[in-house]
Amino acid sequence: MRTDQSPQQTPTQLKDYLPPAWWVEDVHLAFDLAPSATLVTAKIQFRRNPDRADAPFELHGRKLTFRGAKIDGAPVEPEIDEEGLKITSPLPDSFTWVCETEIDPQANTELEGLYLSNGMYCTQCEAEGFRKITFYPDRPDVMAPFTVRIEGEVAAVPVMLSNGNPVARGALPDGRHFAVWEDPWPKPAYLFALVAGELVSHDDEFTTASGREVKLQVFVRPGDEQKCDYAMDSLKRSMRWDEVAYGREYDLDLFMIVAVEDFNMGAMENKGLNIFNSKYVLASPETATDLDYALIEAIVAHEYFHNWTGNRITCRDWFQLCLKEGLTVFRDQQFSADERSAAVQRIKAVKQLRARQFREDEGPLAHPVRPEEYVEINNFYTATVYEKGAEVIGMLHTLVGAKGYRKALDLYFDRHDGQACTIEQFRLCFEEACGIDLGQFALWWGQAGTPRVTARESWDGETLTLSLAQELQPTPGQEDKKPMVIPLALGALGPDGTEIAATEVLTLSMLEAHYQLSQSDGSWTWSAASGAGADTGAEGRPRLSINRGFSAPIMLDRAETNEGRAFLLAHDTDPFNRWEAGRELGIEIAHSIMAGEAVSEAWSTGLERVLEDPALDPAFKALVLDVPGEDELAGDLASREVPVDPDPIHQAVQTMRAALGLRLQPALKAAHDALEVPGAYSPDAESAGKRALRNRAMTLLAAGTYAGKKLAAERFEAANNMTDQLAALATLVNYGAEGADAALAAFYEQWKSDSLVMDKWLSLQAMNPNPGAMDRVAALTEHAAFNWQNPNKFRSVVGVFAMANPTGFHAADGSGYRFVSDWLIKLDPVNPQTTARLAGVFETWRRYEVGRREKMQSEIQRILGQPGLSRNTTEILSRIAGD
Ligand code: TRP
Ligand code: ZN
Repeated sequence: MRTDQSPQQTPTQLKDYLPPAWWVEDVHLAFDLAPSATLVTAKIQFRRNPDRADAPFELHGRKLTFRGAKIDGAPVEPEIDEEGLKITSPLPDSFTWVCETEIDPQANTELEGLYLSNGMYCTQCEAEGFRKITFYPDRPDVMAPFTVRIEGEVAAVPVMLSNGNPVARGALPDGRHFAVWEDPWPKPAYLFALVAGELVSHDDEFTTASGREVKLQVFVRPGDEQKCDYAMDSLKRSMRWDEVAYGREYDLDLFMIVAVEDFNMGAMENKGLNIFNSKYVLASPETATDLDYALIEAIVAHEYFHNWTGNRITCRDWFQLCLKEGLTVFRDQQFSADERSAAVQRIKAVKQLRARQFREDEGPLAHPVRPEEYVEINNFYTATVYEKGAEVIGMLHTLVGAKGYRKALDLYFDRHDGQACTIEQFRLCFEEACGIDLGQFALWWGQAGTPRVTARESWDGETLTLSLAQELQPTPGQEDKKPMVIPLALGALGPDGTEIAATEVLTLSMLEAHYQLSQSDGSWTWSAASGAGADTGAEGRPRLSINRGFSAPIMLDRAETNEGRAFLLAHDTDPFNRWEAGRELGIEIAHSIMAGEAVSEAWSTGLERVLEDPALDPAFKALVLDVPGEDELAGDLASREVPVDPDPIHQAVQTMRAALGLRLQPALKAAHDALEVPGAYSPDAESAGKRALRNRAMTLLAAGTYAGKKLAAERFEAANNMTDQLAALATLVNYGAEGADAALAAFYEQWKSDSLVMDKWLSLQAMNPNPGAMDRVAALTEHAAFNWQNPNKFRSVVGVFAMANPTGFHAADGSGYRFVSDWLIKLDPVNPQTTARLAGVFETWRRYEVGRREKMQSEIQRILGQPGLSRNTTEILSRIAGD
């Protein structure tokens, strides 16, 4: 039962930051593990901060049973409430605090603090979970070395892990044992971790650049040992890459990764003991897709890179979250670009940025990369902090160049190692190392919203004038915006499609700017112009390619024609913009279909040329041959101020796929057959790219032809890896092909004992857009493979239905909204963090036509009206509602 009837909704403000009143010199923790009564003894050395000499002694603490405390050996009686404890009587400037608390891991369904997942003890402390383990100044600017002693039953917890290096272990009477761990590097409490249970490890070694030996271990449940190779390989490549690209070596003798089944997010960078959602560790060719492999690689790298950007240098307060997350996402993207195809990785990152972050930035949840207030910090692990945060670092990289960037980062590591820092300190390293002023650039951290840049061109037969203007709409709490620094990489092509001006970066930093491209001594060069030029010419007009590589995270308004887009799709030398031209063309075609027109021949012919171009990478072709996403089209309609009805959008997209399948049948079939990857499955990017294009061809053929549906049925039977098996199954199901139900049943029989594969089986059905979606999804929640208390399972059914089945979720009768709300209401008291995150599915309610809009609004209000609704969900939904 919930007790907190009115959750605290008073925001914490950046401007109120005060340094801690007490520093921690060192921490000794002792755990006596038991499922419903774990005893925690903390021995902490405190030292007064003379700058805050008048402050009382206060520690955070939640859901703890207090069993007594002593200061320098003398018992004390602190005042205790829901949020922590306080001692107001005078205290010495330095003292030893000993405190005993009891906690109940078994009852901890929130998956924050110490909890039990399938009999395995594990912790999640970021952001404020440590206070559910013991009373502590649970804030990232309090850093200390930790020593941890764990004790438990050998039979229940044969393996007991914590941060740092193992220093002692031994047997105890009554079938018990203990282990002692020491982490010499001072760290904030959010990086503390403990894992205990029946685990086996897959071991390896790594020799650092300076010759130190590091033991590497990936811990999994018995039976999963064979599924760790790729995570281990990714870890070793990440370690080497950080040495080469950033000069950063690992700093302990041991690095461990543990896979757990019940986890709120992807993974966590606890010092020396990263804890992962098992979905991002376990992989075998038969059970994991190419996408799973790519995500494992990226997330292993991300968490490893946090060792420097996050752990050695951490955040002063949670407002600075992007300091570690934006930078670390940028680093993992650089790594993936180096390990795979840079162009393909960039396109994928931008697709994700637009789908998640632009959506956030346009709606009621818009907030700056560095927010200035929050109610519940867990609600700020957002696409804006992570992905837009990474784009900001990327723009810095563009502005100062690779050498300047490396110099700035070297200075940052050198100057701030061991500290808890702010964005200003980070920025200052760039200013000093590169001799630039980033005062205006810093608006990227402070202003919410996606800038819209309008580009207009005029050509007088000799000079092309480019007029740029920027605009930033108001966002919640930010009415007036200032102009941003927008680095636009651009190039120009001649009328015959050859590049006449190579990529160059023009920076827009005022509301408007004008540039001229003209020829002198046979070469085309850019210069500043005073205004728009005359538009009199047609002959010889250069074609611009603007925002190459998506150099700035903006919306670009180009007044381009479909002919112009088709030209860039055919000729641009920048692969990102080549894909971008195809994407814009696809969006225009979708609009024309919704307006009743036939599917453009020029469009399908343009895509056919891409498909048949031998110079292009299959992975890139697979991306170009994708049709626009339904949510993307909904957002696009909304930006044209058209109220959204998801049904015609779905119809348009299906029509486009069917038209491609039918018209390109011979070329698609030829590509499909030529792309068979011989031999044993390998997850490398090149093979994955071939599979991606081959499976795209199969899906389009199935959308357009009966032969394509038969092909999918054959492919399902023949598949020898999960990528192909799942792609074939999804095709059969989505196109309602003969044998789809039998294939679903066969897949279930084959994989019912593999929980991660069952997640795929559930999501594939939750996505099925065909009539009857609501009943099918409701039935899935009754299925034995579903377990609503496991976040992966909940997301696979309820989350996927809401995010990836637009016609089902937005069913005109409101049944989809009601279904999702009912589940959010049920999950909230059990796991508020995951509930609040999923409540974001309602953030776009304003886009929709009035019937749906009102139904969404009333569901939002119904959830908000639930007694005892968590602080997390209350904050998200009241922001969404605009209260
Ligand atoms: N710091 C983690 C990362 O980005 C993410 C994280 C924050 C997290 N809070 C969490 C993970 C809670 C799991 C649960 O790598
Ligand atoms: Zn991170």
